[in-house]
Order: sequence, then structure tokens, then C-alpha cells
Amino acid sequence: MDSEILQRARTYESQMGHKIREEERPGFHLTPCVGWMNDPNGFCYYGGMYHLFYQYYPYSTHWNSMHWGHAVSRDLLHWSYLPAALAPDADWDREGCFSGCAVTLPDGRQELIYTGVSHGGIQTQCVATGDGRNYKKAAVNPVLSEKDLPPEVSPVDFRDPKAWQEADGTYRMLCAARSRDGGDTMFLLYESRDALHWRFVRTFLRNSELREPIGRMFECPDFFLLDGQYVLLGSSQDMEGSAKYHSGNGSFCLLGNYDAATGAFVPETDQCLDAGIDFYAAQTILSPDGRRIMIGWMQNWDTVGIQPEGCRWFGQMSIPRELFLRNGHLCQQPIRELKELRKDPVTYRNVVLGRDPVELSGIRGRRLDLEAEIERAQGTVILSLAADEKHHTDLIYRPQESLLTLDRSVSGTRRAGADVCSTKISGGYGHLRLRIVLDRFSVEVFVNDGEKALSMTLYSEEHADHIRFLATAPAELSMTAWQIRQAVMKEK
Ligand code: FRU
Repeated sequence: MDSEILQRARTYESQMGHKIREEERPGFHLTPCVGWMNDPNGFCYYGGMYHLFYQYYPYSTHWNSMHWGHAVSRDLLHWSYLPAALAPDADWDREGCFSGCAVTLPDGRQELIYTGVSHGGIQTQCVATGDGRNYKKAAVNPVLSEKDLPPEVSPVDFRDPKAWQEADGTYRMLCAARSRDGGDTMFLLYESRDALHWRFVRTFLRNSELREPIGRMFECPDFFLLDGQYVLLGSSQDMEGSAKYHSGNGSFCLLGNYDAATGAFVPETDQCLDAGIDFYAAQTILSPDGRRIMIGWMQNWDTVGIQPEGCRWFGQMSIPRELFLRNGHLCQQPIRELKELRKDPVTYRNVVLGRDPVELSGIRGRRLDLEAEIERAQGTVILSLAADEKHHTDLIYRPQESLLTLDRSVSGTRRAGADVCSTKISGGYGHLRLRIVLDRFSVEVFVNDGEKALSMTLYSEEHADHIRFLATAPAELSMTAWQIRQAVMKEK
């Protein structure tokens, strides 16, 4: 029997979700059925489908008491909503079901592992098992609580479990945590034989031991082996702006060595996971065909108050991305399935750009996939996206500084929010390769075949759909643009 709280959420979303017209949603990015969405949760492949849960509050477009929303897909682009999976209806999660993950148990059931927030903000790890649609919280909850923490760790900052299975079948799990004095943050490692009884193994990563600490509170870890290299993803609050990271909340990636026998992880390099403003709390899965696919919350906590008037959903996921390593660097590209939504290609070769802004006939729209190459750029090159007479969102390439900037300050926003981000890029002077994925409410830029990504939400009117090009000194532009078909999202 579902609790009243879960039943109420399920009834509400089934009544309200379909009232949101298709045109009000992005074309191919997942949004909440109705109301508020933050982190991706429980990203997995189960029962022949991809499942994605998400931090969810159906009743308004602002963060509140957390539920888990649920959607399934066969290609990670066409999603169907399933009824909300978890609601804050037990003693151990009265104040919210926070982020977590999903594993498949040996008997075929799906287990959700999540953070329960109880009275006083105490955070514990809890489990619920089910069939891919309905879940029952375990009576033994919580499965990890204050007694399982090193004494220095605060029980009000202990969350976001992410589990995986080792080669010998045992489970390992990382959780984010913070010291009681707030001075340090860490990921803690746990292990279990049955994904129910967990034991503390060690502190996996300590912020204070990094060459350059990253922010103040780690959140949402993910850990996997990719092309023979161990990869740890995380997000952090209150990062100080630097050449590598933008200020505020952002996500990072550490490559390092992992000893499965002891659980010891030694980080070697770190990089920003997405240099845009809006990418957080990423989770990955291994697809049935062996690809490591990542999805993130395409939003920044610092700007969640800036919402379009009258919106009925808020918060969206990034395009799912395939991860790979190149020259010791984590790279990402949109999942290849996106190419199947492409239509109406328009190609230009070696267009010489100059000081006067130009448009290229046929290259226009707000649901676009663009591949571009800039060559022989001597001065600054600007691609103005989502433009009309008043608005534009600019991608600015400064070859002299090897710098790429994304700037939405004239996209129609009426608030002084975080609107500009920049990243250093490598490669030949004056030469840049770009993949730009534009959807109704976002732009995602992939640089030099995936070496960097920059993601940003964008709330300008849909008729702001022009693209203009200019360069302060002659530069050559070649590009192909495809319109992207709407990937209709259904209720199931
Ligand atoms: C990250 C986060 C998580 C937490 C969740 C709460 O965005 O703060 O650490 O579990 O959101 O909604």
C-alpha cells in the first residue's frame, strides 16, 4: 500500500503533468513531470530500459520536501514519466528523500539507495526495493547512520550514496560528508555483500588533502573505470573562482589510482567537468553496449530563483553524454542517439567572417545541432545564438588568449545572476572545432571533439532564433546545422 503522501504526489502529477503543453518543454531534454527537479538519481539500465529518477517536488517550481520523480527511456532522448517512486513518508525521511542511486539485486529486484533526512536535518542512508515502478522502503532503515561515521563527520552532512559492484560481486558505495567544524569535506567509502548491511571502509577522498581544495561541501560522487583509468566525479558548493573552476557550485573530475583490495584511491589530476554555469550532480551508467554515459542537472543553485513567469516546470537534465579519455583528459560528447533526431542539414564551407555580423541562410532555430570549424582566426570571433533584435547569447572565441566564453547576459534575463563563463582551450592557434546543441531552454557547447563542455540554460523567447556571426579580423567558418526533431515525452 502506498502512503497517502506518495499517493497524493502520484495523483497530482498525473493530473497536472499532461497540462504542460509540449511547446512549454524543451525538445529533447528531460524536465520534471510537473513542478521542481534537481539532481539526477538512480540512473541505471533495468528491465530493458534506462531509468532516471530525479529530485522532485511536484507541487511548485521551487525546492521543497524532496520526492523522487521517475522517467524511463529506450534511447535516453524520448522519455516517459512513471509515477513518483519515493515520497518523504517514513520516520527516517520525513524531511526529504535526497539524492542516491540504484542497483540491481541478485534476485532481479531493483534497489534504490537514497539519503533520508529526518527531524533536525539528520541525514542517513536508506533503501527501498521494487520492480522498476513501485518501491517498498526496508523496515531496517536507515542502513547507515551516525554510528557508521568517523567521529569527525557531521550527521547533518552525510548524503548522496552512489554504489557499484566490484568484480567479486561485493558492493562498494561512496557518500559525501563534511566535518563537524565545517572545515573539511570528504567522500566516505562503504562496502556490503548484500547491498543492505553496510560497513565503513575508509575516507576515500579528503578535500584538505588535495593540492588545491575544491569548494566547501562535496556532493553527489560517482566512481568508475574508463579506458583502464579510474575516474571520480563530484560536485562541490562554494568553489572559489580560478583559472580552472568557476565560482559557486560546480562539478569536477579526478583521475587517479584505485586499489580494489584496500579501497584506497590516490588522485593524480583534476579537471572541471563542465565549464558552463549550469551542470551539477552528474551521474553515470554503463550502457548495455559498453558506453559510459553521464547526465547532469543543467542548472545552478545560485540562479534557481530566476524562473520564467508562470512556468509549470523548473529544472532540466543535460543532454546525456558519452565519456572517453584522450591524452589523460576526460572528454565528453552528446550521446550518438542524438544524431537520429537530426533533420534538414545545411552546410557552408570556408565562409569568411568580418566585422559586419552576418546570418547564413538556413542556419537558424532553437532546436539545433551544429558542427562548426573556425580556421585562421586572427581576432575575436563571435557566434550570437538565440538572437533577435534585442537578445543574443554569445559564444566568443579569443584565439590570442586561447579562451572561449559563453555569455547570456543579453538573453532577456532581468536579474543580475551568473551569466558569463570562460574556459581555456587547447589546440592550434586560430583553429577551433565546436559542437553546439541548442534546445528551447539551453545551449551546450562541446569544444575540440569533446575536450571541454559548457552548459547553460537560456530562457529567451522562442522567436529569438537567429544566429549571427562576426569576427574582428578575417576568420573562416565551415559548418553544418541540423534541426532536431522534438522527442515527445509521454506519461505512462
Ligand atoms: C545537490 C544536493 C544533494 C542533495 C540534494 C537535495 O544538488 O544538494 O547533495 O542530496 O541536492 O535535493
